[in-house]
Amino acid sequence: MSPFLLTRTLPEDATDAALRADVLHGLTGTPKTLPPKWFYDAHGSELFEKITELPEYYPTRAEREILLARAGEIALASGARTLVELGSGSSEKTRHLLDALPGLHTYVPVDVSESALTQAGQALAAERPGLDVHALIADFTGSLTLPDTPGPRLVAFLGGTIGNLLPAERAAFLASVRALLSPGDALLLGTDLVKDESVLVAAYDDAAGVTAAFNKNVLSVVNRELEADFDPDAFDHVALWDTEQEWIEMRLRSRAAQTVKIPALDLAVHFARGEELRTEVSAKFREDGVRAELASAGFALTHWWTDAEGRFALSLSVAGQDR
Ligand code: AVJ
Repeated sequence: MSPFLLTRTLPEDATDAALRADVLHGLTGTPKTLPPKWFYDAHGSELFEKITELPEYYPTRAEREILLARAGEIALASGARTLVELGSGSSEKTRHLLDALPGLHTYVPVDVSESALTQAGQALAAERPGLDVHALIADFTGSLTLPDTPGPRLVAFLGGTIGNLLPAERAAFLASVRALLSPGDALLLGTDLVKDESVLVAAYDDAAGVTAAFNKNVLSVVNRELEADFDPDAFDHVALWDTEQEWIEMRLRSRAAQTVKIPALDLAVHFARGEELRTEVSAKFREDGVRAELASAGFALTHWWTDAEGRFALSLSVAGQDR
């Protein structure tokens, strides 16, 4: 059994403080918003796993297809001795990469969920003699410090989760990833691609209603954590495609005029009938845009792979000289 180490970079109460700040800011602003990271309590994570198996939700399958086909090339091109995975969750898709990286010394899964990290990390360390697993409890949108492990490093950010960040947040995020790396280190990025509106909307508004339940779950999280009295059934799930921004938005539309109490924040929030709360942006990308955003952050895109249907892309980029 190889070493498993867990480093907490977040104080125990950081999550609570961040949730309070996000809910206060998001529900007192116009329009009302909540950041998507609060979907993922235990129930929300289960619902997301179900989403990945829905016939309408293609990104997970498309990305797995690319990873399986290209893991060898990724390993060869990066020569990685340390693999850092941002938002590793269950580390499920990472196994394909780990299998292809025989020279790998250390795997660094980074996630805010301690339970997911411990489960996945301990299992991997037990399965793979010779592989150090150094898990980091951290919010990858904040400032990260990586353990001192051998290079070259490969940072993987999969699933299309970068699409949850707004353009300015993406620029800051990519620059912070670049700042973690040395010239020649690599970034493996999963991006969902612009495609027919009907396909996109169906992926975020499935027939079985799993995405609707996932969307409304954020209200249950606020209820439990901040003693709020949201009635999830008083809101409708909305998924729409913004042609200008080229992103999907998920919203919750108030079915009636209502006031929600959030005692932990000493707050009452009024919703007009039909008023919408934005809960997620999921941006879709084109090759030129991804290349340009990476270049601005100091990465040169070297490989662009899509699934056979051209729905999703994995790109590999190399960190340029320090500037
Ligand atoms: C996990 C962020 C990639 O944006 O497609 C799935 C989350 N939201 N269905 C996405 C999600 C609604 C998902 N990511």
